[in-house]
Amino acid sequence: MSDKLQLDVLGDMRRTHTCNQLGAEDVGREVVLAGWALRRRDHGGVIFVDLRDREGITQVVFNPEVDETVHEKAHEIRSEYVLCVRGRVEKRPEGMTNSNLATGEIEIIVSELRILNAAKTPPFMIEDEVEVSESLRLKFRHLDLRRPQLQQNIIRRHKASVSVRNYLVNSGFLEIETPVLTRSTPEGARDYLVPSRVNPGLFYALPQSPQLFKQLLMISGFDRYYQIVRCFRDEDLRADRQPEFTQIDMELSFVGEEDVMAVAEGLMAALFKDVLDKTLVTPFPRLSYDEAMGRYGLDKPDVRFGLELKEVSDIVAGSGFKVFADSVKKGGMVKALNAKGCMDFSRKEIDDLTALAAVYQARGLAWIKVREDGWQSPIVKFFTDDEKASLAQRLDMQVGDLVFFVADKTKIVNEALGHLRNHLGKRLNLINDAEFAFVWVTHFPMLEYDETEKRYQAMHHPFTSPLEEDYDRLQTEPLAVKSRAYDLVLNGSEIGGGSIRIHQKELQEKVFEALGMDRENYEEKFGFLLSALESGAPPHGGIAFGFDRLVMMLCNQTSIRDVIAFPKTQKAACLLTNAPSAAAKAQLDELSIRVKAVAATPPAG
Ligand code: AMO
Ligand code: AMP
Repeated sequence: MSDKLQLDVLGDMRRTHTCNQLGAEDVGREVVLAGWALRRRDHGGVIFVDLRDREGITQVVFNPEVDETVHEKAHEIRSEYVLCVRGRVEKRPEGMTNSNLATGEIEIIVSELRILNAAKTPPFMIEDEVEVSESLRLKFRHLDLRRPQLQQNIIRRHKASVSVRNYLVNSGFLEIETPVLTRSTPEGARDYLVPSRVNPGLFYALPQSPQLFKQLLMISGFDRYYQIVRCFRDEDLRADRQPEFTQIDMELSFVGEEDVMAVAEGLMAALFKDVLDKTLVTPFPRLSYDEAMGRYGLDKPDVRFGLELKEVSDIVAGSGFKVFADSVKKGGMVKALNAKGCMDFSRKEIDDLTALAAVYQARGLAWIKVREDGWQSPIVKFFTDDEKASLAQRLDMQVGDLVFFVADKTKIVNEALGHLRNHLGKRLNLINDAEFAFVWVTHFPMLEYDETEKRYQAMHHPFTSPLEEDYDRLQTEPLAVKSRAYDLVLNGSEIGGGSIRIHQKELQEKVFEALGMDRENYEEKFGFLLSALESGAPPHGGIAFGFDRLVMMLCNQTSIRDVIAFPKTQKAACLLTNAPSAAAKAQLDELSIRVKAVAATPPAG
């Protein structure tokens, strides 16, 4: 062999089929396949290779009795070598078929082999079952992406985006792009900043969402806009959050809540039909924010199971258990959850649940076991017979039950019991994994009080309209004002959120003021919006869906990273390219930037 590198390795070989296409009906055909060698097996002189492409796997066979030279060359094949083979489709011998494989009835008897490229031994086997750390998978993401599960996820993601586009285009939506180098678009997270070289000391912010641009598009007359768009949020990451993620973003003019929700429901129905062939029942149920918090403790309730929370403040307010009585006296509350049939939970199990509640700041988790011979509980001695009778009735306490209580500020009680409920729902197998339970949560409060910053914040964003009937309370009782915002929740995960917007300048100014901004401040930040609102803004509203989260559900995956081709770690790093990285001094000088501290690079997972 000459040392010269052969460049055109493919020559005139062109593939005729993918690795998932051939079956018994093709027996006898001459075909050409290309792909990666999953593994090579030598059996009594005959070599078998599983050839893999994005569609599937086909077994190719090198038999010395068919062609000795080709068989000899096949010995060079290693895992992940890139091959092109020509051969004849044959039925597999009796007993050798593989019903787990679409192509399991046939194999290709190879008459021509081209090794298109060699591959180093991969750091892990390209198989779904392989045990390997996520950081190694992310470092070699190009290899990890060859795994069948990830290939299916990414292909399904593509199908989902095609479905979304089809539905929206057919419903009269226009796709319009909005800038990525822009000003801060407040959605409650920190901004990613980009320095401007030609304007030293000035920065663009990457959009947390296209919110203001889509409102401006409504004002410009582009009723029914949509975009599948990248958004950037510098926030603490979790299993369902990424620093850059994708939204299905839309906005409509001349609409109210119900119109936007109907379009959103139609979109979800089309998406689940196209991708999973699943028929969703619309309209989805609606819950007010107050009802969601009351019954489930969370504004994103998993409604696939019961185990609802019940407030018992009125019953225990005068009780001898000081923790309960004091919480109510101080304006907090006491709520309970009846874990039906869980009387036999051990001390250790209850301690673990107490630790879970403590994660959400609960200072304790009181409990009562309903035994045949009476109640067993560290707190039962504090209650009168009347109080006990009322509790038993309110909480439907039957022999065999275990009831949990949390007493604290309302926010803590709801959060702790809401998460305890989700935990118990899983633990007690109350959840049907095959179910998709959508629910709208509506009538969110406009504002919430940020204890650390000591000021009001918009619960959705500052461009959301208050309810007509609450308008007068904006100055007097800001926390009592409800907004025209709605979230779409699926199986306990927030997959979308939107609102009817403020389209009048006067109201927008009032809301900025309620948020503690003075005129100078909001004119400087949002003067362009206020001016646009004075120029003939139609009533408008919209919604944005978390596309990655939706695809996660469609793929039945538990990590958002498994539905994104090149995701980032918890530390917002790309382990493949080692981003973020230090900048050269010359580049920083050009940007007029002096760096105060540099993190260790590359950032660890
Ligand atoms: P919101 O902030 O609720 O609304 O975002 C819409 C949806 O985007 C998803 N999402 C995320 N997904 C992955 N990683 C993240 N870091 C992340 N943050 C949010 C969620 C969420 O429901 N402009 C408004 C929409 C509107 O009012 O029309 C907005 O961005 O699924
Ligand atoms: P103690 O009197 O502190 O021993 O608490 C008695 C029981 O009440 C224990 O099971 C505690 O976990 C529980 N408990 C204490 N504080 C609270 C609280 N704020 N809410 C609910 N249960 C509590």
